[in-house]
Amino acid sequence: MTESASEQPLLDVRDLAVHFPIRRGLILDRTVGHVYAVDGVSLMIATGETYGLVGESGCGKSTLGRAILRLVTPTAGHVVFDGRDIAHLKGEDLRTMRRRFQMVFQDPMSSLNPRQSVESLLMEGIKAHGLSRGAEGDAARLRELVDAVGLPAAALRRYPHEFSGGQRQRIGIARALCVEPDLIVADEPVSALDVSVQAQVLNLLAALQAELGLTYLVIAHDLAVVRHVSDRVGVMYLGGLVEEAPSQELYDDPQHPYTRSLLSAIPVPDPELEDRRERILLTGDLPSPAAPPPGCRFHTRCPWRQPTRCDDERPQLRVIEGGTPGHRVSCHWAEDIRSGRLRPHHVDPEAGNDDVLGPGAVPDAPGSVTEILGR
Ligand SMILES: Nc1ncnc2c1ncn2[C@@H]1O[C@H](COP(=O)(O)OP(=O)(O)O)[C@@H](O)[C@H]1O
Ligand code: SF4
Ligand SMILES: [Mg+2]
Repeated sequence: MTESASEQPLLDVRDLAVHFPIRRGLILDRTVGHVYAVDGVSLMIATGETYGLVGESGCGKSTLGRAILRLVTPTAGHVVFDGRDIAHLKGEDLRTMRRRFQMVFQDPMSSLNPRQSVESLLMEGIKAHGLSRGAEGDAARLRELVDAVGLPAAALRRYPHEFSGGQRQRIGIARALCVEPDLIVADEPVSALDVSVQAQVLNLLAALQAELGLTYLVIAHDLAVVRHVSDRVGVMYLGGLVEEAPSQELYDDPQHPYTRSLLSAIPVPDPELEDRRERILLTGDLPSPAAPPPGCRFHTRCPWRQPTRCDDERPQLRVIEGGTPGHRVSCHWAEDIRSGRLRPHHVDPEAGNDDVLGPGAVPDAPGSVTEILGR
């Protein structure tokens, strides 16, 4: 959202992993496996920046956000927040740091206690972090908070169920703001809202960022939402980042087959373009994060899969040859896919991928997605 994100990262996530144990057995509680919800994610977010995280449901976005906020404890890796590793912080130290990062949830109702008035909800956060300034100071602060999120002062005396979905999300945002955080993780902040209301809430988040110098991690399964708000975008697949780039660049020059397929699924309003544009249909389901495929995690669905490296070797996030710094992709064959030297195959999840598609199905040259998206 901001043009002037500073160089110093506020958040530096390194090799972060969250593995949930799968337990079985009534008498003896045994761990029979793990859900590899987040499995080796590294990313940085600069102060004042908005980082958008996209990916299919179940790929680990919420778990990553929750691990960053220490709502779940990471299995491995580091979460360096403002120079301090908080991945394994405990007790009072963690409680003190918690004030500085807050979450905005998809469904504001589930995170707002229906029996508490808005005033009481906001005061709860203020008191929990020792930020109370006495009756008068608090009253002024509460009015300031509801005003900041575009609600009238009378809203303070009302209860969550008395508000519309968009208003409730405004209350959720005020709840996050009341402790004066530096980082806000917004997990699907507009997914539950009517399309007409989504833009208002996103614009509110942008305005608050400009005014308060906030840093955002915005999680969404909807690429349009992420593109609208983000300076940079990370694309997640099955617990890992597959691509990361400045927002515009990701849309202009998607380098990972998964990103290309996500972008190709967005319909365009121009019927002529809609007929001509590249479509990459993914076959097969998202594999279970309890049994992620070896090698490249996308190989079971990738139309460009190559023997045998894709099956055996997990690709690292890297800048491709001739690529722009800051645009990283985890695909062994990104250069050849981008140049068109490699062509996509039909993927048969049972039999592998043998049939090369006809020339009409060959992806267009880099840059064509700009056209596809109608810009
Ligand atoms: N507390 C938990 N215990 C066990 N598995 C979990 C837990 N939370 C999430 N998962 C699993 O981790 C995977 C990633 O989930 P999640 O982070 O919610 O994905 P997303 O937000 O991208 O939809 C899913 O398979 C989900 O079922
Ligand atoms: S490494 Fe192989 S399977 Fe993975 S995205 Fe690249 S081409 Fe596809
Ligand atoms: Mg989620």
